[in-house]
Amino acid sequence: MSHLLLISDSAELRQHVADAARTRISVIGARPIPTGPSQLFQQLGSGAAIPQIVLIDTDAGLDDALSLSGRLSAEVPGMAIILFSEQPDSLALAALRAGARDVVRPDADPDELRDVLNRAVQSVNGAQQGHGDPASNGNASTKGRVIAVVSPKGGVGKTTVASNLAVGLARAAPLSTVLVDLDVQFGDVASALNLDPDYTLLDVIRGPAVQDSMVLKTFLTQHPTGLYTVCAPLSPADADEVTTADIVQLLQTLAAEFRYVVLDTAPGLNDHALAAMDQADDLLLLTSLDVPGVRAMRKELDILRDLGLSFEGRHMVVNFADSHSGLSKSDVEATIGTGVTLLLPRHRGVLASVNQGVPLLQNDGRDPATKQLRKLVGRFTTGAMQSVDTTEPTPVGGRHRVLRKRAQR
Ligand SMILES: Nc1ncnc2c1ncn2[C@@H]1O[C@H](COP(=O)(O)OP(=O)(O)OP(=O)(O)O)[C@@H](O)[C@H]1O
Ligand SMILES: [Mg+2]
Repeated sequence: MSHLLLISDSAELRQHVADAARTRISVIGARPIPTGPSQLFQQLGSGAAIPQIVLIDTDAGLDDALSLSGRLSAEVPGMAIILFSEQPDSLALAALRAGARDVVRPDADPDELRDVLNRAVQSVNGAQQGHGDPASNGNASTKGRVIAVVSPKGGVGKTTVASNLAVGLARAAPLSTVLVDLDVQFGDVASALNLDPDYTLLDVIRGPAVQDSMVLKTFLTQHPTGLYTVCAPLSPADADEVTTADIVQLLQTLAAEFRYVVLDTAPGLNDHALAAMDQADDLLLLTSLDVPGVRAMRKELDILRDLGLSFEGRHMVVNFADSHSGLSKSDVEATIGTGVTLLLPRHRGVLASVNQGVPLLQNDGRDPATKQLRKLVGRFTTGAMQSVDTTEPTPVGGRHRVLRKRAQR
């Protein structure tokens, strides 16, 4: 572990960081927080090694902590700064602007804290070597979780779910989530998040960003929630420029840098989607609650099985779930031969949120669609399978039996 410095007055936090880091850490008091690098190094004493990772407890003074973070990130290249805050969510944007690489709750789970520290070590090492080395950084213990949102059919809610999931994860773990639009021709993540990107996928797979994960980060587009995004190229014609090898390399680099890498994809099994699935730890499969959609899903699952693609987690989400479709959750499960993870109800607020470019999970709504999306996020942040509500929509009359037969055919 690299040399760690904690700026805090809390003995509890000091112990917590030492336990997570499993190494000796340096500590200086936070009252007052040093104003800049020179005052910080003075406090450490002559001959002390310059810390590579600085953890600042914002409890002692948020403005001072942000100001120190800003100066350290600008004046000490390669240093990683992590902020501790009781409210990481609301601090995300300010932290991002102050050059911090992560914001963590002081009582974060030790594994989560260790993960954050390992990631900081990797970024420091990458900066020292002058180049990112995704292969060596992407070891299993610290590799981020790559979640691909896919569907055989178009228009079933991939972008809606991917953008909400990413925003939800970013709110839970600010600065640690990136959403990549791999619908290379017609991607609309930028529109779903109301972003006006300076750079797109083409810029991050070409030029200086390819070689260096630190440089790559500067080519990402930031969302107010602390989410990073890679938006699709502006013209569909540019899609030809993006090879599967580009995608594989990009995803490996991002997984070494971020805790969560969420992928939106184009419908079907095109090369870009397959490259995304190949790199994914989790596959989030989406279907609409109708016979053609469910049948197509069954075919897609068959093909994935034949291709030998396996995933740590597979999450089946049925969108547009309402009681008027005549299909039930058990019809879907019987047809595709696997369990349904989550039913996402049809809700007019979803359309409004997409049109406004403000995902539902950016706000604290209590409507049924927002609640289900929040449960989906919880599945990745807590791994709580049982928290997901898959209560069936009530089938209408006896029509569903016919549809069930049709679907299973
Ligand atoms: N649960 C829902 N309730 C109401 N509208 C929804 C719901 N889910 C998605 N929509 C709407 O359906 C439309 C298609 O959604 P979205 O763009 O997310 O699908 P997609 O799978 O990404 O499409 P494509 O395959 O074209 O990329 C959007 O207008 C979205 O607002
Ligand atoms: Mg889409």
